[in-house]
Amino acid sequence: MAFPLSPSAPLRLKPYSTLRLLALCSNPFSKSRPFPPSAAPRRAFPPPAAPRRRCFCTAITAALRSGEAVEAKKSELVDPPKGEFGGRVGEFRKRLKISEIKGGPDEGLGLVGQTLTVMGWVRTLRAQSSVTFIEVNDGSCLSNMQCVMDSDAEGYDQVESGLVSTGASIWIQGILVASQGSKQKVELKVKKIMLVGKSDPSYPIQKKRVSREFLRTKAHLRPRTNTFGAVARVRNALAYATHKFFQENGFVWVSSPIITASDCEGAGEQFCVTTLIPSSGETTATPIDAIPKTENGLIDWSQDFFGKPAFLTVSGQLNAETYATALSDVYTFGPTFRAENSNTARHLAEFWMIEPELAFADLDDDMACATAYLQYVVRHILENCKEDMEFFNTWIEKGIIDRLTDVVNKDFVQLTYTDAVELLVKSKKKFEFPVKWGCDLQSEHERYITEQVFRGCPVIIRDYPKDIKAFYMRQNDDGRTVAAMDVLVPRVGELIGGSQREERLEYLEARLDDLKLNKDSYWWYLDLRRYGSVPHAGFGLGFERLVQFATGIENIRDAIPFPRTPGSSEF
Ligand code: 4AD
Ligand code: MG
Repeated sequence: MAFPLSPSAPLRLKPYSTLRLLALCSNPFSKSRPFPPSAAPRRAFPPPAAPRRRCFCTAITAALRSGEAVEAKKSELVDPPKGEFGGRVGEFRKRLKISEIKGGPDEGLGLVGQTLTVMGWVRTLRAQSSVTFIEVNDGSCLSNMQCVMDSDAEGYDQVESGLVSTGASIWIQGILVASQGSKQKVELKVKKIMLVGKSDPSYPIQKKRVSREFLRTKAHLRPRTNTFGAVARVRNALAYATHKFFQENGFVWVSSPIITASDCEGAGEQFCVTTLIPSSGETTATPIDAIPKTENGLIDWSQDFFGKPAFLTVSGQLNAETYATALSDVYTFGPTFRAENSNTARHLAEFWMIEPELAFADLDDDMACATAYLQYVVRHILENCKEDMEFFNTWIEKGIIDRLTDVVNKDFVQLTYTDAVELLVKSKKKFEFPVKWGCDLQSEHERYITEQVFRGCPVIIRDYPKDIKAFYMRQNDDGRTVAAMDVLVPRVGELIGGSQREERLEYLEARLDDLKLNKDSYWWYLDLRRYGSVPHAGFGLGFERLVQFATGIENIRDAIPFPRTPGSSEF
């Protein structure tokens, strides 16, 4: 179905763009109807609307009034246009979101009387004798738009026949009115409704509460629930605030590689990337003999894609260091992978890590940066995700808003590993893993320190024994500890791990030898110490642990859209 844009420029519309444009006709923020009159104009891409488009909108408005456009759109939904070549790309227009209607301080009252269009998914539908209530959510905010409809509304037959059901997607237009109900200030009095995609009765996310374990098996549909919608929005806000913090402080974002030949943490917890084993399709019938071998019966890596073993990265740090020793302050933000068989609520096989690296910096600078960063992103979500944070405060973790407010306002505690061990030993508490100097701190120890001893305040532990830390950490003058630091927070334990890096070539080489790591494979890393070495430091923050900390969600598998854990890679 083609609509004339102007007599000389035909534009073919896809069903989706037709819906967006129909919505635009009643969008109070669109150019043809400035709203609110006093508000600053919204940004259009590109601004402002081309005269051509205005002409088209006028045509559509007229068609809408006559009912013609609705018919046109219906047929387009059934029969998408085929064989489009050489058409012009339309202007990008933002469609009206529920958050824009209800998100302001007056919760939408200022828009009462406007004709608005909403597109979203039906959360619930309640038919009473004379009216039907439809709760629609478009994911832009936690709130639904309550749509009230009587049998006069155009398209009511689709509701009557049961086509509009929970999970279905709909296009709905009506007048915004003050709501009689106590749950919302405004509701939409429906004039027209159109089913966009019906929902099969087997839709698994009905109104009754379902467990998070169950929802993990429906990871493709769980973002349509209140909890997962809120987690996704807060996760997004944390990512935005992360970039904002580093960009405002002069850091350069660096993309570290996902495939690597070096093991940053030296823990051997890497996933191998190989083409020696035939890829999908053939995997079920791969004979073991298909893997090429040397004369000694070992795997012949020279025949592999990279000519040697390659892995998914466990950390982008080593690569970040190369850029920090050129651009001064950098950060990475990308996926990392660990093949540790940890079936816990804090471990994922695939997680996102943020790794800043600061040149001409020591451990104190590193701890100060970590503190400032954490306080910044937490303040950002408290200020910008109020509705979702209230939701977490009520339903997920009571008191989380106060807890996070304290994080923003109070100083973090700092103590050495040696003091932390003494404190744990003196506590006389029975831990599953007994504590003594030299042992790695377990989650139970970390949580005891931050939750019990320091009553919910983030704690930074520094100067760990060198034998339990990675090769790249700078040796302290005592010869037995390194300039490392971990930031511990309540509920999660270790949120950040960082250190000052060993910038002295001879110390670093000696450490690689001690640990029997192959110096040749770190040649480029050692070069950084050969050519203009500088004191530098950095840290890594597990993004999903930050999401856990910021939302109160107990299990890390619920802090990432599609969790990858031992035995689970569905979706
Ligand atoms: O302490 P880690 O292992 O430190 C590093 O990887 C350093 N190279 C970072 C650096 O200095 N640039 O990991 C850093 C953080 C941890 O504190 C934790 O928050 C998170 O990454 N993390 C995990 N998150 C989810 N699942 C796992 N399996 C994780 N392992 C580490
Ligand atoms: Mg660590």
